[in-house]
Amino acid sequence: MISLKKIAILTSGGDSQGMNSAVRAVARTGLANNFEIFGVKKGFKGLINNDFIRLGSKEVSDILYRGGTFLQSARSEEFKTPEGQAQAVENLKAKGIDYLVVIGGDGSYKGAQALERHGIKSFGIPGTIDNDIPLTDYTIGFDTTLNVVTDAVGNLRDTMSSHERVSVIEAMGRNCGDIALQAGIASGVDAILIPEIEPNIKQTAASIKKGFERGKSHSIIIVAEGAGKAEDVAKQLKELTGLDTRPTVLGHIQRGGTPSAFDRVFSSRLGHQVIELIQQGITGVGLGMENNKITYHSFEEIFNSKTEINEQLYHIFEDLV
Ligand code: F6P
Repeated sequence: MISLKKIAILTSGGDSQGMNSAVRAVARTGLANNFEIFGVKKGFKGLINNDFIRLGSKEVSDILYRGGTFLQSARSEEFKTPEGQAQAVENLKAKGIDYLVVIGGDGSYKGAQALERHGIKSFGIPGTIDNDIPLTDYTIGFDTTLNVVTDAVGNLRDTMSSHERVSVIEAMGRNCGDIALQAGIASGVDAILIPEIEPNIKQTAASIKKGFERGKSHSIIIVAEGAGKAEDVAKQLKELTGLDTRPTVLGHIQRGGTPSAFDRVFSSRLGHQVIELIQQGITGVGLGMENNKITYHSFEEIFNSKTEINEQLYHIFEDLV
């Protein structure tokens, strides 16, 4: 009997909406092309603990529209050690895994690169709400998170208007301001504080005051977590404006919810492409989308590149306030 080539898939780091549909796409395309598919539970931790499950077509049904990751995720300190990596490699080799697909953010990509160096043919699929992976226009989950934040801003606006308050909303994103910037444009907020652009609290306070003098009943500010804490910003603005200013940390609500159609299609395209790359003999790469085309770059190239804030979008925001 000819033994089939084996692909293992794991999701790692902070979960993001659309990870499930990426797993489904790798699994279903792989199965259709005569690969044997395994899921690894709890990310790199599962590689160390030898926690593999066989994925058939049925195992990945009913997950396309679910947030989170059915494979579960973890941040593994042990995997960062040489011993942890050696154990993971031993388990992968013992199981006869030919290819590993890692769905996660930049920390997860580092793990995939380390395994590639140990001879495990690896792929990275950008799964993080932060949109902070270089050489891809989007990461899986970012679009859904934008919608969650935009809805939350709408809810806060209702109550802030009733009470003539200022709302300071803290969005996730680590050191990247994309969630704050794009959700800010989508929801028409009054100011955005992001780590890529030096904040000017005095100027923000002055424009909030002016707005209220003109008759506005509320003001909304989004602060990216990399630019500061909602509580600190609210305190400063309250002191500078004298207005009732309330902080709201959206927190993990941003990482949940049913993935948007965009994230489902995007992750399906990425997962499908992995199998095509395997068939072309290409490995050791992270996938992404640039100008609506699915692209790939070596891990090294990705780590030698930087994400940058979209300045044009920032100017659009400034012109629309
Ligand atoms: O990377 C995704 C993310 O949600 C970041 O935006 C945030 O800083 C971090 O993960 C929170 O991590 P955790 O859920 O481990 O606290």
